Amino acid sequence: MIILGIETSCDETSAAVVADGTQVLSNVVASQADLHARWGGVVPEVASRKHVERLLPVIFEALESANLSLRAVEGIAVTNRPGLIGALLIGVTAAKALAYGWKLPLVGVHHLEGHLYSNFLAAPDLAFPFICLLVSGGHTEIVLVESHEQRRSLGRTRDDAAGECFDKCARLMGLPYPGGPHIDRLAASGDPQRIAFPRAWLGDSFDFSFSGLKTAALRFLETDGGRTPQEDVAASFQAAAVEPLVRKTIRAAQTTGVRSVAVAGGVAANRGLAQAMRQACEEAGLRLVIPPPSLCTDNAAMIAAAGAPRLLRGESDPLSLDSFASEPVG
Ligand code: KG4
Ligand code: ZN
Repeated sequence: MIILGIETSCDETSAAVVADGTQVLSNVVASQADLHARWGGVVPEVASRKHVERLLPVIFEALESANLSLRAVEGIAVTNRPGLIGALLIGVTAAKALAYGWKLPLVGVHHLEGHLYSNFLAAPDLAFPFICLLVSGGHTEIVLVESHEQRRSLGRTRDDAAGECFDKCARLMGLPYPGGPHIDRLAASGDPQRIAFPRAWLGDSFDFSFSGLKTAALRFLETDGGRTPQEDVAASFQAAAVEPLVRKTIRAAQTTGVRSVAVAGGVAANRGLAQAMRQACEEAGLRLVIPPPSLCTDNAAMIAAAGAPRLLRGESDPLSLDSFASEPVG
């Protein structure tokens, strides 16, 4: 089944063509990051306006690079929750128009479910049950994925999301938005033990907390006055952010008895996290799946993959499909 995926929940305009929910034929992402960088974060109204301008060209580019016409598309999957409401509405409206005009089944997809399904694009043989660490700009959560229909949240952040913490720390260091990739780049040549930033363990729970780390980074940078090399600050910060993510994910796998661990969301592109997770999974005898960076950050291929199980079962949503700014995963 040829599925057209559409993603406009934040500041990436993306369209993708995916076959049978696992094979990416094209995945076009038009990022607005440069546009929002001067404001230090995403400006919702600007994001919506850019989606209006870019979405149709992006859809046609996705079809063209898959060597297909709209006639070949058999179903449409679109992100309809959660996200910036104005941005979501652009993607959902375009998806409805195409579904109506071409008489195609349409399904609304939860953005985080999309991130979760990026793992099936990276590893189509990934078997249930598995533990997924979802780490993005807005979410940090450990999910036990039992089947396509069943999942259980084991823990989540009590304050900032991991990506948000990377972005805030980067901003304090004077790095451009989004800061996660800049911290990643600097950390590669820094000393992770130079500064003892705090790790929030929160007892036996699978919850996370990143606000203390953000405050510690702020205090350190205020008193340091630029004496410590940025590489060392980035590496020390990254190590403090990554350690609880890795340890709690491994413990979640051991506690539930699952044999596979998956990581998804923008922060899954972080090399420090990937390296630490790889080592921990090897030691614990667990299979690890981390999608390539292009499937970790926001993209429409993962949305098509997440919509595939329902479309393949012959299900669809009505054209009255709504958009929601917030809704818990599952
Ligand atoms: O999943 P995503 O693209 O959008 C959301 O759904 O939030 O995640 C974006 C987040 C941003 O906070 C960004 O800084 C972070 O992912 N990110 C990274 C890296 N690449 C993206 N954080 C750390 N290291 C990276 N290499
Ligand atoms: Zn995302």
